Amino acid sequence: MHIAVLAGDGIGQEIMVEALRVLGAMDLPNLCLDHADVGGVAYHKHGHPLPPETLELVQSADAVLFGAVGDPSCDNLERHLRPEQAVLGLRKQMQTFANLRPAKMFPGMEDASGLKPEIARSIDVVIVRELNGDVYFGEKGMRKTADGLREGYDVMSYDESEVRRIAHVAFKTAMGRDKRLCSVDKANVLETSQLWRDVVTELSSEYPEVELSHMYVDNAAMQLVRNPGQFDVVVTGNLFGDILSDQASMCVGSIGLLASASLGDGTKGLYEPIHGSAPDIAGQGIANPSAMILSAAMMLRHSFGMDAEADRIEAAVAAVLAQGVLGHDLGGTASTSEIGDAIVAQLTGG
Ligand code: NAI
Ligand code: MG
Repeated sequence: MHIAVLAGDGIGQEIMVEALRVLGAMDLPNLCLDHADVGGVAYHKHGHPLPPETLELVQSADAVLFGAVGDPSCDNLERHLRPEQAVLGLRKQMQTFANLRPAKMFPGMEDASGLKPEIARSIDVVIVRELNGDVYFGEKGMRKTADGLREGYDVMSYDESEVRRIAHVAFKTAMGRDKRLCSVDKANVLETSQLWRDVVTELSSEYPEVELSHMYVDNAAMQLVRNPGQFDVVVTGNLFGDILSDQASMCVGSIGLLASASLGDGTKGLYEPIHGSAPDIAGQGIANPSAMILSAAMMLRHSFGMDAEADRIEAAVAAVLAQGVLGHDLGGTASTSEIGDAIVAQLTGG
């Protein structure tokens, strides 16, 4: 298991320490961790947020564990030198087209959610977002209309192979869960969505055990806050997925609890918390490392097929929350290392 460890800057450094302690406590076979710089740290040392030696390590590794980037001292640099470019560069290099974001309510955390506790309790969804296509990557530009008005345009398109490969990921994700897949689109007005719906429907014959449904995105946004328990796995395009995954994650309470995986064709993936490098709390030792630790669990599950080990880590995080070991983001006083200590103790029976 050769893992590229890219802690990044800000709280990325602090939360990565705890995730590596948790992996260390798991007695994993042949665990090999190789560190490289990324983000602001890399810019200050090497003059680039994603230097060649980091890309080389990523190329040779089986999986990438990524902390966070966003060093504000780089705010005035040209766009291609900003820390956030490292994330985009990595996605491009690794050709990760599927972004998985689980949003699950941890028992006892209902009060942290903006939803009513009885509704919040039912959230347990994985949003599978297409990451490489859609309106973000279509032809775009500014032009003048015949009347001399400025006009911006961004072309939305998907070809059927792009839909098929993300749909496969979603069906497989559903197979490993409650076998319910909801495909979200806007097929009542968009041709892209009509194709999306047709292709997902065609593919469903390969996964007869999965119950497939379709929903328009505006309704899905409403249903996510009205009755999130109806969703198991949601698959959707890049734009809709960007919005819905943020919405779903906020229903859970703290950003410090939410992990993600970005996957490509093989088993190699990029695993990172959904939050950024939180410069407002960096260096204080109060960041919640749970999202980073849960990202490491996703890595074991998706890149190494270690479902049992991933389950153990997830259960340990849940147990520690249930014990009331809460970070500042959840109204508690536990420090980053205290949360890490508690999770490691849970795993080792210490
Ligand atoms: P952020 O996610 O870094 O922080 C938002 C708020 O949540 C802050 O108040 C922060 O203190 C809090 N927070 C975030 N993670 C936390 C944790 N683990 N424990 C406790 N509190 C936590 O988003 P923000 O402030 O908008 O962005 C900061 C920088 O991070 C920016 O430069 C942004 O571009 C970058 N960013 C990087 C991402 C990445 O590395 N993939 C993703 C999102 C933002
Ligand atoms: Mg977003």
